[in-house]
Amino acid sequence: MPLIAVASPKGGVGKTTLAANLAVSLQRLGRQVTAVDFDSQNALRFHLLPDGPATLGIARCVAIGRSWRETLQVGESGVRVAPYGDSTAAERLHMKEALLEQPLAELLSELLDSDDDILIADTAPGEGRLQARLEGLADINLVVLLADAGSMSLVPGFRDGLLLTPAHAGAPETLAILNQVDPRRRLSRDISEFIAGHHGGRFVGAVHYDEALAEAAAHGKTVVEAAPESLAARDIRDIASRLEARLRVSQEA
Ligand SMILES: Nc1ncnc2c1ncn2[C@@H]1O[C@H](COP(=O)(O)OP(=O)(O)OP(=O)(O)O)[C@@H](O)[C@H]1O
Ligand SMILES: [Mg+2]
Repeated sequence: MPLIAVASPKGGVGKTTLAANLAVSLQRLGRQVTAVDFDSQNALRFHLLPDGPATLGIARCVAIGRSWRETLQVGESGVRVAPYGDSTAAERLHMKEALLEQPLAELLSELLDSDDDILIADTAPGEGRLQARLEGLADINLVVLLADAGSMSLVPGFRDGLLLTPAHAGAPETLAILNQVDPRRRLSRDISEFIAGHHGGRFVGAVHYDEALAEAAAHGKTVVEAAPESLAARDIRDIASRLEARLRVSQEA
């Protein structure tokens, strides 16, 4: 079960936007992708699914004991989406607690038709126990950083892996994406070069600051669909190719 968990210690850095765009890019590379939303903001669906009525999502399924497979919807891109869904405060609390007890790998595998399908999980910001469990299952733990001073302060931790789970054999590969890079701004340029230089093999690429991303999202689309020639779409496609190659290597191992 090739699983990419998209995470970051900070909020608002572009996790959901990148998870959606990477999902579509990986799908276009010929892989079946299923995107799962673990964030109660329930935002992933707005990038990948047409506007629709209230949806059954994974949170309510946990509360009422239904399979996550029942939540699956297919977007125009072909990406299958398991939304977090509409939820009450009680369901959100229950979800957090129940997922710590339940066999998460089994719940996720219910979403797949084949062992080759790629799962991409969008997570809430910060370092919770659910993030740690997802990280423990992931093949790639993708950390989104911004080209700002805050991300610089994460560099020492990142060098140690930024892992929530203790290092163990078969631990996920932790890779960083630098988002919202603006080469016209010196600070952004310098920080990007520093982070790329210091993370070496763990740095999987940078995505330009590009308003096309927000414009696409406003129309319920990803930038790789709405503006495929934009800078951000090119960056994201390159990163998706690198991730796909790494997943193939880890599957063959
Ligand atoms: N490369 C980019 N260029 C310009 N705007 C971007 C870029 N990436 C993300 N954004 C914008 O940044 C905002 C936050 O993005 P997003 O919601 O994906 O972040 P997030 O990390 O998922 O947030 P949260 O922590 O709340 O889940 C959105 O308005 C999005 O359009
Ligand atoms: Mg988000």
